[in-house]
Amino acid sequence: MLSPQDNQLVTNTDRGTPMGELFRRFWLPVALSEEGAGSDCTPVRVQVLGEKLIAFRDSEGRVGLFDAFCPHRGAPLFFGRNEESGLRCVYHGWKFDVTGACVDLPSAAEGDTFKDKIKAKAYPCVEVAGMVFAYMGPADRQPPFPEFEWAALPAGHTHVSKFRLECNYLQAMEGDYDPSHASFLHSTLQDVRIPNPLDSQWGNRNRLTPLEKPVDPSEPFPFAVGNRRFTSEVQAQSAALEDTPAAVLSIGVRDLGEGRKVAAAGAAWMMPIYCTAGISGRDTYSSNMRIPIDNESLMFYRLRWKYAPIPQRDIDEHRNGEYFYPAMIPGTWTTRDNVHNDYNVDRVAQRNFSYTGIKTFPLQDIAMMENQWGPIADRRQEHLTSMDYMIIKVRRRLLAAAKAMAKGIEPEAPWHPEEYRWHREIVMLENATDEEATAAARAKSGEQRTKPTAQRAAAATTAELAPKPATESAAVAG
Ligand code: FES
Ligand SMILES: [Fe+2]
Repeated sequence: MLSPQDNQLVTNTDRGTPMGELFRRFWLPVALSEEGAGSDCTPVRVQVLGEKLIAFRDSEGRVGLFDAFCPHRGAPLFFGRNEESGLRCVYHGWKFDVTGACVDLPSAAEGDTFKDKIKAKAYPCVEVAGMVFAYMGPADRQPPFPEFEWAALPAGHTHVSKFRLECNYLQAMEGDYDPSHASFLHSTLQDVRIPNPLDSQWGNRNRLTPLEKPVDPSEPFPFAVGNRRFTSEVQAQSAALEDTPAAVLSIGVRDLGEGRKVAAAGAAWMMPIYCTAGISGRDTYSSNMRIPIDNESLMFYRLRWKYAPIPQRDIDEHRNGEYFYPAMIPGTWTTRDNVHNDYNVDRVAQRNFSYTGIKTFPLQDIAMMENQWGPIADRRQEHLTSMDYMIIKVRRRLLAAAKAMAKGIEPEAPWHPEEYRWHREIVMLENATDEEATAAARAKSGEQRTKPTAQRAAAATTAELAPKPATESAAVAG
């Protein structure tokens, strides 16, 4: 539960608000590279953090991101002529390069000198892994780009798409680190997890509460709950959380019986919107980014990446399979099954196969997220439980950072780019102690990589590198 004041504080990312200013201290995804494909492309309308913007690629292939309105008299730059290394407003012909500098002002005799006083509001951009990221804060506080592992990978190792949600960023993001929902929302009646088409061993390796385990005879709802119930025994194996300057680490271990342990570790959340949960193909990792369009809608950038090239089979599945990425209405960023058609919920499937009747992972989540008492959840009405521990933790982090911002205290996280090298790992070990299992998961998920560069170099010379886990890893459903 949050007070109305705190709920407003944490959900409002408009310019000039504490959370809005906090967001504007980070690099944030604002478009897919493909939206402005080719030099001198058609300008693209973009809205981020409530700001109406225009993105374009100039003759040299550089990306520009401007306020959508011309600094002369506010005409829409969407209609601009994109040519000859810049965008020219078609109202009176003023022209701007990607930095926003006015390079030509032909509509007045004093234009040659007056243009030097004019600047379009422009944000610096970088292109990484098929996305355009922008920094929308004060120039003197521009941080380095976060050292995401996927940012350094060659093309073919990443796959990204995006879709629009009709709700505030926070309730959507909170679904990523909600440890008690997957067993219900993402399950089938035959199993606690929907089979993964890209990982045939998924069930055997990752099912944490296997169906083969007999349902407790005292379970009053053996069909609808079965092995899904979070007993105190299950809950005792919940992940522990650790704060770092930029992230919340989640580290847990479970006993699978017969000497087997499964340990999971990683930064479940990194400031302010970077999450690492999500179902993927084998040895494929996730980065989920939900960036406010405004306070009641967001764009969800859903990235999957591998150290090796992503097989074409996986790409085809992502594009067409509707399992990892929902089908879209052509020419839009709106999912075909959406809030306006109740996600085409199939009640026959719900009775006989699927827990929800909604196809599939992302849509099941979205159907819950888009209307939690409306597009901005009224958190006064919540009744959180102990299994909402991660949600409570991240809210505290965001609120503390926003309240600090309101007092003029700048966030530390943007200046820890190395912390963004965490990803989420699960390892399975045989005959290991809990400590050995969690140490293996921590090591693989980024413990060494996320130290500042000097410490990494020192550790490398003393061979303090990750121990090898017994089996391969996989990302988890989320
Ligand atoms: S409004 Fe754009 S040049 Fe006049
Ligand atoms: Fe989920």
